[in-house]
Parts: sequence; C-alpha cells; structure tokens
Amino acid sequence: MLQEASSKHGLAAGEQCTPQNPDWTIDQGWANYTAQEHAVWKTLFERQTKLLPSLACDEFLDGMAKLPIGAEGIPDFRRLSDVLRKHTGWEVVAVPGLVPDEVFFDHLANRRFPSGNFIRKPHELDYLEEPDVFHDVFGHVPMLMNPVMADYIQAYGQAGLRAQCLGKLPQLARVYWYTVEFGLVEQANGLRIYGAGIASSFTESKFSVQDLSPNRLGFNLERVMRTHYRIDDFQESYFVVKNIAELLELASIDFGPVYARLDSGPEYQPGDVLPADRVLHRGTGKYHLDRRQGG
Ligand SMILES: [Fe+2]
Repeated sequence: MLQEASSKHGLAAGEQCTPQNPDWTIDQGWANYTAQEHAVWKTLFERQTKLLPSLACDEFLDGMAKLPIGAEGIPDFRRLSDVLRKHTGWEVVAVPGLVPDEVFFDHLANRRFPSGNFIRKPHELDYLEEPDVFHDVFGHVPMLMNPVMADYIQAYGQAGLRAQCLGKLPQLARVYWYTVEFGLVEQANGLRIYGAGIASSFTESKFSVQDLSPNRLGFNLERVMRTHYRIDDFQESYFVVKNIAELLELASIDFGPVYARLDSGPEYQPGDVLPADRVLHRGTGKYHLDRRQGG
C-alpha cells in the first residue's frame, strides 16, 4: 500500500538499515517459515475465501483459481512466479517490508511485484501497520494474472518514476490507491472488488460492497487525482470502473497534460460527493460519523 504524502511506500521497513541488494530484494526464506506462521496464513486464507466468491470480481477469482495459492500455507514465491510468468510475464520478489518509492516503481516497471516476506501475528489478524505477505500475495497477485491489470500496474511503475521527478507523486498515488488497492468494478451480478487492499481485508471486503455508509462513485481520473484518501480506516468513498478493461486506457495515458490541469482547481476530501459525480450509491456516512463522535 501507499501512504499519502510520504516519500516512501508507507513507513519504510528497515529505514535504518542498509538493504542487502540495491533493489532491496531478499530471499523469501520459504523454508524458514514456522508452523505458526503457516497457520496464520491458513486462518486468513480460509475466512477470506469463504467471503470472496460473492464479493470479488470474476478476474480476481479466476486468477486465484489458476495460482498455487491455497490454505496449506504461505506460498513459495518461486512457484507463484513460474505460473505468473507464463500468463503475464510478472514475477513476485521478496522484500523486507515497504521500500523507497523509486525502488518500488522500478520493480513494477519491470513486471516484478515486491512482496513483504513476513506475516502478521496471530493476535493482529485485522490490524496491519504495513502490508505483509497475505496482503501482497493474496490481495495483489490474482489480479496480476489478468493481462489488463498486468499492463496497468507496469504502466503505473513507469508513471511513478516520472511523477517523482515532476513532484506529482501524491496525485498519482491517489490513482493507485483508488484502483489497485481500493477499486470496485461493475459486473453483471453487482459491484465487485478488484482492489487488493479490500480483497485481503475481512472487514473491509464486506464494508466496501455491502455497507450503506460509504459512497460508491464512478471512476474519473482527474476527480480521483484531486481526492485525498484515508490510510487509517475504511475508505469513505470507493471509485467504481465499468469494467476492468477501463484500466487499459489508464495504462497508456500521457499524464503530462493532466498534471498541468491539476496545478489549479480544487482538492476534495475523502467523503465528498460532487454534482458531476456518477453516483452509484450515496453513502449515509454513518460509519465515519460514529467514529468521529467516538461511537
Ligand atoms: Fe498493496
């Protein structure tokens, strides 16, 4: 996940350390996982796979079905990469946690998805300070099996390197946030999840699709790039694409003119609904209102 207005992809794990390799990759150390760590994966995997058939999009479920990801334990990145490479040319590489932006973007631009190799503790199944192997693998890798998403995330890596030079990373990061991490898509059977931040979250997967509180708004690039997001709680608004193919257009867009337009005009708060929005669901806002009132 990204953290807004940060120079890192979240709090950089190992910020005080020197990375082993310039690209921050490490050996996953698959043989070193303990039985307890595999058991945490099993718990997370089983409760999430019960939920997702009625909440996740077809592309996510299809990708998951074709990957060596199961209840038995934390997947071996080498086996994952063997399958991914054949489908979309991507691979999964292990990193010790969140990495500097330029390192993250360079991996994506070269079709390498950096994944934390650690897993959350048994007593913090629903609280994550930074993305772990369950978020990164269960949440992200199934969508990397989809050719559109595969191209889109690579393009994001290339755009990220450029945005960093132009000082536009906060605006670009919002696109990643509201698509790759927290995106919803319209499908024949209703709104469905494709964002990894939701797909890997037991509580937010239900909240994002079923709860009356959040707004669900049609995706619009400039609107999203002007919209702040929440890093500390459920989203107040989710942006919805009409289909996954809509991301194809984003994969080839020249952000230069967009950045120029963003130099003027408003910024929006996470819960704002605008007259120009395509409103699929106008949220009650109850969840966040209760939180603000200490409820
Ligand atoms: Fe993520």
